[in-house]
Amino acid sequence: MKETDNYSNLAPLYDKLMENVDYESWADYIDEIIQEHHPEAEKVLELACGTGSVAISLEELGYYEITAGDLSPHMIEVAKEKASKVDSAVQFKTLDFLNINIEDEFDVIFSVFDSVNYLQTESEVKIMLDECRKLLKEDGLLIFDFSTPLNSMEAVDHLNNEEAEVKSLRFFRTSEYDAINKIHTNTFEIEQLSEDKQEIISSFKEVHKQRIYSLEEMLSILKQTPYHLVAKYGDFDLIDADENSARITLVLKCQKHL
Ligand SMILES: C[S@@+](CC[C@H](N)C(=O)[O-])C[C@H]1O[C@@H](n2cnc3c(N)ncnc32)[C@H](O)[C@@H]1O
Repeated sequence: MKETDNYSNLAPLYDKLMENVDYESWADYIDEIIQEHHPEAEKVLELACGTGSVAISLEELGYYEITAGDLSPHMIEVAKEKASKVDSAVQFKTLDFLNINIEDEFDVIFSVFDSVNYLQTESEVKIMLDECRKLLKEDGLLIFDFSTPLNSMEAVDHLNNEEAEVKSLRFFRTSEYDAINKIHTNTFEIEQLSEDKQEIISSFKEVHKQRIYSLEEMLSILKQTPYHLVAKYGDFDLIDADENSARITLVLKCQKHL
């Protein structure tokens, strides 16, 4: 089975895979954090926006000018199609958050749904933080979440052996968590079916490896950067996160000119 780039074949299936995710509430949560810590913010950049669900919902609130980028051109293609159907003004771009090529500055940069866990090493996290620092206005906010070991341990069983179909595409997912090296691997086998679905025309495999960070590890990385922690939230609330939080959302500011 041919192994392909992450999200190249998964992109048209992604929204099906995430059909139970309440992206509108996730956008409301990001809005709540912005209103709490930087209410005058207008220009917003979303990193690793996937198929654009949060960016589109956030833009519908009517008070942010949003640019949203993702490494996968296939995810961006789906995002642009969705945006055009609802007349969204979000500007979608293909971009790598390890090398963000945008000549602009933002009041807020954010990233959600464990995208930062695609960064495999501490030094990659630091590169991403530095790229954001260059694009943040003075007093700007960086907001991102990451998935912790607890999340992987809780989720691995229900993610494993999942199957779904969209039109003529079918995927099968296996999921495993290596708790020693803190690597969560989701493997997707994707099949392109004939119109009558009786034949498999082609099949692909995507192996998604995410590095899972504990709160302690992430805070130790931050200490080596010009950022300071404004807040750490757990569980979609403005409640302080701790080592028992499954997904943690950090709110950071940085001393820009260090
Ligand atoms: C789990 S998906 C989350 C997507 C979206 N934020 C959501 O909530 O549905 C992770 C996303 O991270 C993107 N990604 C991974 N590495 C990236 C990088 N270096 N730069 C930008 N995006 C990246 C992937 O292409 C994918 O769309």
